Amino acid sequence: MKLTYYGHACFGVETKGFHLLFDPFITGNELASAVDVDAIPADYILLSHGHQDHVLDVERIAKRSGAKVISNFEIVSWFGNKGLEGHPMNHGGKWNFDFGTVKYVTAIHSSVLPDGTYGGNPGGFVVWNEEVCFYFAGDTALTTDMQLIPKLCPKLDFCILPVGDNFTMGYEEAVLAADFVDCSKVVACHFDTFGFIRIDQDEVKKAFADAGKSVILPTIGQELAF
Ligand code: NI
Ligand code: MN
Repeated sequence: MKLTYYGHACFGVETKGFHLLFDPFITGNELASAVDVDAIPADYILLSHGHQDHVLDVERIAKRSGAKVISNFEIVSWFGNKGLEGHPMNHGGKWNFDFGTVKYVTAIHSSVLPDGTYGGNPGGFVVWNEEVCFYFAGDTALTTDMQLIPKLCPKLDFCILPVGDNFTMGYEEAVLAADFVDCSKVVACHFDTFGFIRIDQDEVKKAFADAGKSVILPTIGQELAF
């Protein structure tokens, strides 16, 4: 399985020959100006919530690639009105897709679409197949609901957690989140894109190392293998 970081909270996952794309926000991210948004492969676009910094490039990418949107009912309906195909879910539900199983899980945040339409409740995803199992937390506070994930899903190979603080949990809580989901391999996101979420990378690395966990603070364009 290959993971590619496109900046902010946007990741591409290649598994079993399928391309999944999470929370595409590229053209609005100055730090990601080297990424060619029209070259990103996508069979499915998974959206954690409706905020602009997670959905900005969905339409552009889906119209080119034909990718199907996977998110909550409200967000899938909103993109459906723009002519995009989708698969609606809601909290606690899971579905078996051709690339693997997706479970839509709790996130503590807010969710409104760019035009002010109600975006349903924000969520995260656990995705698994024969090759890999991972958790994409989305924008969220630390929540005790995360403790349900190891009880309901296969053992995680890695988890993608926000660490930038202010709009989501900060890195100290991400360390606890890694405990809650029983996974010591963390890929960090939602940091450094704008002023409110700038982090001290050495501090973050030290906090994870002190807790006996590994954290990757990916650079934009970086590819990781799991
Ligand atoms: Ni948000
Ligand atoms: Mn966000």
